[in-house]
Amino acid sequence: MFISFEGIDGSGKSTQARMLAETLRDAGREVVLTREPGGSPGAEEIRRLVLEGDPDRWSAETEILLFTAARRDHLERVIEPALAAGKVVICDRFADSTRMYQGLSRGDLRAVVDQLHALMIGREPDLTVLIDIDPAVGLSRAKGRQGTEERFEDFGVGLQEKMRAGFLSLAEEFAPRFRVIDGAREADAIAADVLRAVQAELQS
Ligand code: ADP
Ligand code: TYD
Repeated sequence: MFISFEGIDGSGKSTQARMLAETLRDAGREVVLTREPGGSPGAEEIRRLVLEGDPDRWSAETEILLFTAARRDHLERVIEPALAAGKVVICDRFADSTRMYQGLSRGDLRAVVDQLHALMIGREPDLTVLIDIDPAVGLSRAKGRQGTEERFEDFGVGLQEKMRAGFLSLAEEFAPRFRVIDGAREADAIAADVLRAVQAELQS
């Protein structure tokens, strides 16, 4: 089973992905916990190119190519082999992030994202957990981390508002695989909802 976590910066995706991986491992499942951009050595190199530096370092079109190149490497070397071996793959962000960040942030490039995805990736997660949160809360959590990977966080709260609305409409567009979960609560309460959604899917 292939599970992705999506949401705006600071929504709590990484925390929830980690908690879910631990719970499933405790239950005896083999789990690969991974992330995008990155997740394989080549894709982690691309991650540094796209997440560090000035917000205008790359055009949206160039970013679509870079994120898709990273995803293709990650898919070939990590995700597909793990799924073929019967493992559960939990991925912190996947193609829905490109649909939002590159598809919406600087004009409407969604069709280009979808075309390249169809050509080079051609796969969606079985289940996508959208952690939904107010951008002001997400941004203050994300800024609290003090890292160097801030290109997208530096686009500001206006962009995050647009991303939140975009993710919610994506959840409607791909309703069968999406579960929307309220992220403005204690981590344990969110984790319980995530686990319920995953167990329902694992049993179906
Ligand atoms: P994301 O991966 O979506 O950017 P993280 O899981 O890294 O989010 O969380 C961002 C910050 O918020 C981290 O410092 C994390 O410890 C904190 N955090 C995560 N979940 C919660 C929560 N439910 N309530 C309060 N703080 C949280
Ligand atoms: P991530 O490490 O998940 O950041 P955060 O923990 O702050 O949510 O992702 C880093 C940034 O990369 C994030 O701002 C979203 C952006 N991103 C894209 O723009 N396109 C993509 O396809 C992916 C996977 C991420």
